[in-house]
Amino acid sequence: MSTEAIHQFLHCHTPDAWVEWACREPELMLIDHANCEKKAAGTALNLMYRYIDDFELLNKMSRLAREELRHFEQVIAIMEARGIEYRPVSASRYAAEMRKPVRTFEPARLVDTLIVGAIIEARSCERFEKLAPFLDDELQKFYRSLLKSEARHFEDYLKLAQKAAGEEAINARVQFFLELEASLVESGDDDFRFHSGVPA
Ligand SMILES: [Fe+2]
Ligand SMILES: [Fe+2]
Repeated sequence: MSTEAIHQFLHCHTPDAWVEWACREPELMLIDHANCEKKAAGTALNLMYRYIDDFELLNKMSRLAREELRHFEQVIAIMEARGIEYRPVSASRYAAEMRKPVRTFEPARLVDTLIVGAIIEARSCERFEKLAPFLDDELQKFYRSLLKSEARHFEDYLKLAQKAAGEEAINARVQFFLELEASLVESGDDDFRFHSGVPA
């Protein structure tokens, strides 16, 4: 899995303005990153509660949840070592906006949820890669290790989405969500978050 596939998949690169914003908010970035890892584990667990009839999905999501929790532990270890207080930080608009168009009937709900999962993992991977050169050695090494897992999570989610859709081709739906995602990444946002747009 190369990041080339991720770049081809996503409709836009992370704007430089977001990278500059991240560099001005190193503490907020780590706090929100910790939140993202925790939420990624939660999303996988929710799928495990809702769809118990698919062993492949259960197995993949269980492994993914464990991996995200491991990432969470790694982030909070860095925060603790750096004396960063874990304070409450609200969620960005990104995931909420991405989930709004998720259809409410099955199996469309599952297909859409998995597509959104794939896109969020792909963007996380792309951002870790883009940020890495601007970070200190420890974070750079950490983020480069993370982008490999996120690329694998992207593939897992996409494969599960295709499987859940059965005969139905998912490409049109994937493109729909990718367009929405690119608009969130490229437009102005009030607050800096790991998945925010550019400064408004
Ligand atoms: Fe992760
Ligand atoms: Fe992930």
